[in-house]
Order: sequence, then C-alpha cells, then structure tokens
Amino acid sequence: MEKKTYLVTGGTGFIGTNFIIYMLTNYKDINIINLDALTYAANLENLKEVEKDSRYKFVKANLCNIKEIEDVFKENEIDYVVNLGSGSSVLKSIKDPSNFIMSNIKSVVNLLTVSKKAWEKEKGKFKKGVRFLQVSTNEVYGCLKDYEYSLETSALKPNNPYAASKASTDLIVKAYYESFNMPVNIIRCSNNYGPYQFLEKLIPLIIFKAINFKKVFVYGSGKYVRDWLYVKDHCRAIDLVLKKGKPGEVYNVGGHNEKFNIDVVKTIIKILRETVNEKISEDLITHIEDVRGCGERYALNSDKIKKDLGWEPQVKFEEGIKKTVDWYVKNREWILNANFKNKFKI
Ligand SMILES: NC(=O)c1ccc[n+]([C@@H]2O[C@H](COP(=O)([O-])OP(=O)(O)OC[C@H]3O[C@@H](n4cnc5c(N)ncnc54)[C@H](O)[C@@H]3O)[C@@H](O)[C@H]2O)c1
Repeated sequence: MEKKTYLVTGGTGFIGTNFIIYMLTNYKDINIINLDALTYAANLENLKEVEKDSRYKFVKANLCNIKEIEDVFKENEIDYVVNLGSGSSVLKSIKDPSNFIMSNIKSVVNLLTVSKKAWEKEKGKFKKGVRFLQVSTNEVYGCLKDYEYSLETSALKPNNPYAASKASTDLIVKAYYESFNMPVNIIRCSNNYGPYQFLEKLIPLIIFKAINFKKVFVYGSGKYVRDWLYVKDHCRAIDLVLKKGKPGEVYNVGGHNEKFNIDVVKTIIKILRETVNEKISEDLITHIEDVRGCGERYALNSDKIKKDLGWEPQVKFEEGIKKTVDWYVKNREWILNANFKNKFKI
C-alpha cells in the first residue's frame, strides 16, 4: 500500500505531540510533517524521541504566512492535513481578542487555500487528493444547562473570543465542502488532558502548584463543569475520522467524563497526597474571582461518531487522571524546561 504523508500543524503543542507519537507508534508506513510556528505553547523537546525517526520531519512555519505553507506543499505530497495549529487559550483570547481572532482565522483560510490547490491538482489522478481535518472545540456551542448536550446540529453560540474564532473557522471549513466538494471534516472535542500539556492549562498547573506547595487557584466556587477527554482517545478519533469520516461531516468527540472543576482539583490533590507527599492538602485551594466568558458548562453528545464510525472513549477519568498525575510527577524537569523562558508565571 502507498505510504501516506500527514501534515500536522501545531504538532509541537499538546495534542499535536500526542497525535504524532500515537501515529508513529501505531503505523510503520507513514510520513509525518510537523508544521509549527513554535509559539509560547510549543515545546520542541516533546518530540525528542522521534526527532531522528526518518518518517518524521519538523518545519518551522507560521500558518499566517501563506508562502511558508506553499513551500511545504511544494516539497511534499500531502495526503492528510490535521489542523491543530491555533491559539488555544481562552484567557489569552480575552486579554488580546483582536490578534487572537485574526491569527486563528487567517491561519485556517491560508491552510485551506493551499490544501485546496493541492487537492484539485490530484483529485483527477488515482489519488483522491488531500483530506482536511479541522480540530475544533465543544466551546463553539456555548454554555449549556444541566440537562443539555450539544449535537453536531446544535446552534453555534460561542461566548468568548477563542470560541468565536473556532466557530468562525468551522463555518469557513464547512464552506469549502459545500462550495467545492473538498473532502473536509471537523472534530469538536471536549477538554483534553494527558501528558505534554503546557502549564497554563488547569490540570498540569494544579499538579505543578500542589507538588510545590503553592496556592492552587480556583475560579469562583469551582462549580463550572467540563467534560474530560483523555488525549489518546482523541488521537484515535482523529485517526478514524481521517480515514473513515464522511466528507463534509462534523463529529463531536466527548469523553463522557463531566466534572466540576473543584472536584478535578480535589482529585488531583488526593492522588498527590497518596503518591507524593502526605502533606499536600486541600488547604492549598484558594478561590478567586470568576473570569467572564469562561462558560459554566460544556457537554457533548457523541452518539454520531459512535454510531457511524464505532468510536467511544476508552479511558475513564479516574484512570486517566492517575496516569496523567503520575506522568507530570515523573517529568518535573519537562515542566520546568517547557516553561524555561518564563513564558508563564507560576
Ligand atoms: N487542549 C484541549 O483541551 C482542546 C480542546 C478542544 C479543541 N482543542 C483544539 O485543538 C488544537 C490543539 O490544541 P492544543 O491544546 O494542542 O494547543 P497548544 O496550545 O498546546 O498547541 C498549539 C500549537 O499550535 C502552534 N501554533 C499556534 N499558532 C500557529 C500558527 N499561526 N502557525 C503555526 N503553528 C501555530 C503552537 O506553536 C503550538 O505548538 C487547537 O486548535 C485547539 O483549539 C484543544
């Protein structure tokens, strides 16, 4: 069978790193090109273990610069585009909405433009041409009441600039299917957790603070609800949608693990107390003022991907969080190195 080439954008970030390692571990006969601008959230050290693998190549490029994307497509025959390269922090998007939104939208438009050209060139040949997968978020659906679950057909009601930029790009990606019949898919996933996540996000931050006996900040009462998806389960879903997803379709990918933020924090502290130091306690928890726009509850109905493609999450939160805490505890050096330029105040 022909060797397929994957262009993974944002491959040096959290999900990208896990996806690249997952693919290279599970498939012998593939090539992966990691296109990443190396923003503050990226860490080249993540991929040290595959750096010398002949199937892997890193290209430093910014999706906002179309010429840099064109160069990658000129030099390589791409079969699959997995677009993970974007700003991913809600708080950053609230601090600097204009740059955040412009950059996320421009990135997708540029990548689609170049992918479409490559797809048109190849679709007449025996190859079917480039398949494009946009990784989006459950935040595009906006906040839900206790009993509600977003379906792929639910209205998009983003309530912060990050979510608005993702909702906008979902619509743009969908337009490339409707107008040109280009084979695109969109995954809308819930909160991922697992190894290699940058310290600004809830789970690694809580672990780092607690093992260093620093105050653990929780917004408001901690009663915001998030659904947690173990990153490896997400990698399986991306792989499956690329190969079997029906062109033009959106797939929700949820973890079936809804938790109050405060319960996530308490669970982490309990695991650390039992495995690292018995003095780590809930006394470290400090409640601070809520940030407007963060959203009280997001939750997905993922029946479609289960029914159509047979995907279900395999990792329960109780198991995934133990593995995750264990990974960060064993990789304290990684945490400090990832943050070595004082990129994030801890
Ligand atoms: N982490 C989650 O829980 C989650 C949940 C839902 C959706 N997503 C989506 O998944 C994708 C990946 O998320 P993540 O958590 O791995 O993010 P991340 O912040 O860890 O990594 C993003 C990567 O993209 C790169 N990047 C950013 N802008 C770029 C640009 N203009 N050109 C090239 N590279 C650029 C960064 O350098 C970084 O390596 C994002 O699109 C995010 O919206 C993430």
